Amino acid sequence: MWTSRSTYTPETSQTLPMTVVVTGAAGFIGSTLVDRLLAEGHEVVGIDCFTDYYDPAAKQRNLSGALTNDRFRLVEADLVTADLDAAFDGVDVVWHLAGQPGVRLSWSDGFERYNTLNVLATQRVLEAARQRRVGRVMYASSSSVYGNAERYPTLETDRPEPFSPYGVTKLAAEHLCVLYAANWGVPTVSLRYFTVYGPRQRPDMAAHRLINCAIDQTPFPMYGDGSQERAFTFVDDVVDATLRAGLTPDVEPGTVMNVSGSQWCTLAELIGIVGRAVGQEVPIDHRPPAAGDATKTGGSTERIQAILGWTATTSLEAGIAAQVAARRAELAAG
Ligand SMILES: NC(=O)c1ccc[n+]([C@@H]2O[C@H](COP(=O)([O-])OP(=O)(O)OC[C@H]3O[C@@H](n4cnc5c(N)ncnc54)[C@H](O)[C@@H]3O)[C@@H](O)[C@H]2O)c1
Repeated sequence: MWTSRSTYTPETSQTLPMTVVVTGAAGFIGSTLVDRLLAEGHEVVGIDCFTDYYDPAAKQRNLSGALTNDRFRLVEADLVTADLDAAFDGVDVVWHLAGQPGVRLSWSDGFERYNTLNVLATQRVLEAARQRRVGRVMYASSSSVYGNAERYPTLETDRPEPFSPYGVTKLAAEHLCVLYAANWGVPTVSLRYFTVYGPRQRPDMAAHRLINCAIDQTPFPMYGDGSQERAFTFVDDVVDATLRAGLTPDVEPGTVMNVSGSQWCTLAELIGIVGRAVGQEVPIDHRPPAAGDATKTGGSTERIQAILGWTATTSLEAGIAAQVAARRAELAAG
């Protein structure tokens, strides 16, 4: 029997302290989750191999607070080769956020890396969780599994049809989570994140690059005509959903849920919001549309509201203002 030690209640948003693992702990979302888990009193083991997809020094900075906390332990290891049976011994919840993100590099020779870091790494996490009877495995899936969806807001039951090799690997890993639940009872929960933004956002993502371009007055390469629409979701809201997905008792193993902001906007509108938050317009360099970019994303949140009581609460304007303030502080610190 799998048992969850979580005593979480939605009324208090609290549970007794537990021993938990966060994979991808040094990344944008993973490090924000680590800080939240430590603030709530848990013993946190963070696993990360500091891939060079972007500057590993930024990942070190993400963990600078956590590393001063004696309830945090960093294991620098690659999930593809690490002894995960040992790492998951006595662990209540594994939040599996490690992965190779980004659409553009997933073509051509880049695909092997996506396959290894997204599919194979997840299969190893699930095998070890099965052996060690981990109480809950939360997997960070993606809205990219939908591709150009059949309707908006997209429901979890709508047919996933990825439009990029990245999306294929995220969907394959999600299928693994569902089938480990169905065959072995591993208590997995997958969250399909929709375009996450906020402080520590990855430097390859649009809001981060737009903010830099507005501050430095350098041209932003805009692929397509700016009409691509996204459901932007603030990182603290995403972390809140992620926490609930790991802690809420009695969630059906294999459940898949959207984590989508409720405020959708086009790239052109986002450019305007960033310009206003920074106080000067973003210079634009127009480029043709990029392969693999879906024209629109936006998910229904009815399921996650019903199961986890979650809904996004941060407005895009407030979230972008927080990200601009964090970026300015980073630049000032050097
Ligand atoms: N940021 C978004 O908008 C978004 C949207 C949908 C899904 N996701 C998913 O959420 C997760 C976190 O995304 P992020 O934006 O924080 O990315 P990120 O690149 O900032 O974080 C991922 C971390 O995982 C680590 N990592 C990768 N492969 C590893 C391995 N084999 N072993 C150990 N560590 C490894 C990297 O070093 C990195 O620190 C990813 O799985 C991503 O696919 C993100």
